[in-house]
Amino acid sequence: MPGVVFEILKITGGEPGNNPVVTFTVKNKQGERLDPSRLPNLRLVVAWPTADYKIAVEEDARKAKASGDGSYTYKFKYAIPSDATGSGAVGIQGFTVVDIKKPNGDLIKAQRDVGFNFVRYFSITDKEPMPRRKAVKIENCNVCHLKLATHGEMRNNTEFCVMCHNAGQNDHEKRDSAKGRMPPQSVHYKRLIHRIHTGANLGEPFVVYGGTPAKPGAIDFSDIRFPGDRRNCVKCHVPGANEPPLPAGLLPTLIPQPDGSMKALQPITSACVGCHTAEPAKLHMETMTFNGQESCVTCHGVGRSFAVSKVHQR
Ligand code: HEC
Ligand code: HEC
Ligand code: HEC
Ligand code: HEC
Ligand code: HEC
Repeated sequence: MPGVVFEILKITGGEPGNNPVVTFTVKNKQGERLDPSRLPNLRLVVAWPTADYKIAVEEDARKAKASGDGSYTYKFKYAIPSDATGSGAVGIQGFTVVDIKKPNGDLIKAQRDVGFNFVRYFSITDKEPMPRRKAVKIENCNVCHLKLATHGEMRNNTEFCVMCHNAGQNDHEKRDSAKGRMPPQSVHYKRLIHRIHTGANLGEPFVVYGGTPAKPGAIDFSDIRFPGDRRNCVKCHVPGANEPPLPAGLLPTLIPQPDGSMKALQPITSACVGCHTAEPAKLHMETMTFNGQESCVTCHGVGRSFAVSKVHQR
């Protein structure tokens, strides 16, 4: 396929109260310029704060203006709130549609030719933009997935996934429109990915409402079998990024409850309970949390008797 190559060159107007302005290019692999208005899908996502994402906003960028030097600029309708702090990120997704000729001459019609989700950081109040921490690497995922591509193939970079799959994100929109059973399912990134790959071993159902807006529906991940040992955390993780202590200030995962309220799972517990769903493990994690503070590091921290690296030795 000719390919779609995105690059975000510059982000201005990221200060509190302003609308971010994004300068980007869209080319094919040959370096020839593609016109954003001709793409069936081209969207920009702005998310903040990078310390731990809370807000994500997605806008159609096909009406971006040509700058005359081959790049395009798009001004978000969304304004960074006046009380926002820290840094933010902008990511890009999109595709063209092409017909491919097979060696035997047959035509495969209307294939999506998808670009890799380029992500760039900008300052809101920070002196220098602070990039989001990297706990996993897409290269690791692709050892198995070859080319991980979700949401109609358009999303393919873990750095982009985390922008939306934040601690408060859930499937209420698709669940509502498909008239699914409430409460909604949290899709916080660590929970979603730990649970998907625990699959058949999870011991409780894990159903997310997804699909396209036109055809939303339930996706049941409970038959997935991980081709490996989940205790080998570095199959996905950057070494060390999977062990407490975690960076300070991470947000608790919000789990929607049947009565409409939210249960807050603290950051370490939320990661562990993605795989450890059995009792008394859950009760143990609750017991070891007091007033929203987790004491896990005392026993499971790096170098401790029950350090994550020790207890997951195979
Ligand atoms: C050791 C192999 C392996 C690794 C590493 C791995 N996966 Fe998977 N993953 C699988 C298998 C097997 C399935 C189930 C595929 C199926 O049933 O179609 C799966 C399913 C998924 C699914 C649900 C199906 C889909 O494609 O939408 C997502 C999303 C996913 N993985 C994301 C990730 C991410 C993100 C990473 C890296 C952080 C990752 N995977 C790392 C093997 C792996
Ligand atoms: C622009 C925001 C956004 C980005 C970027 C994003 N997601 Fe999602 N994702 C969602 C939302 C919201 C849901 C909840 C269900 C829905 O609305 O489709 C979801 C649901 C899912 C689901 C379950 C439902 C389904 O349709 O399969 C999987 C798996 C998933 N995302 C994986 C990923 C992965 C992996 C990435 C990165 C490669 C990613 N997502 C990037 C917003 C996003
Ligand atoms: C199939 C892929 C996969 C495997 C295997 C995996 N994780 Fe994860 N883990 C993830 C993803 C994806 C995230 C979310 C990353 C992010 O927020 O950037 C995550 C996040 C975490 C976090 C939170 C890190 C942070 O900075 O917020 C911890 C802790 C963690 N995992 C522990 C583990 C442990 C312990 C193991 C092994 C026993 C493990 N994980 C195995 C995919 C995986
Ligand atoms: C990706 C999945 C995954 C994640 C995330 C994960 N574990 Fe595990 N853990 C396992 C598996 C698999 C075993 C082997 C026993 C089993 O199958 O339950 C295990 C075993 C253990 C054991 C040894 C006791 C036993 O049940 O065999 C401890 C202790 C433990 N994990 C603690 C943690 C802590 C603390 C965290 C969070 C920081 C965590 N785990 C996160 C998958 C995971
Ligand atoms: C006082 C020490 C201590 C503290 C604090 C502690 N744990 Fe544990 N935890 C243990 C011991 C001991 C085990 C059992 C280890 C074994 O069987 O190898 C365990 C087991 C676990 C397991 C595996 C349970 C299973 O059966 O699958 C998880 C998950 C876990 N702890 C998570 C946490 C989390 C999350 C926190 C913080 C909220 C925490 N622990 C705090 C000592 C502790």
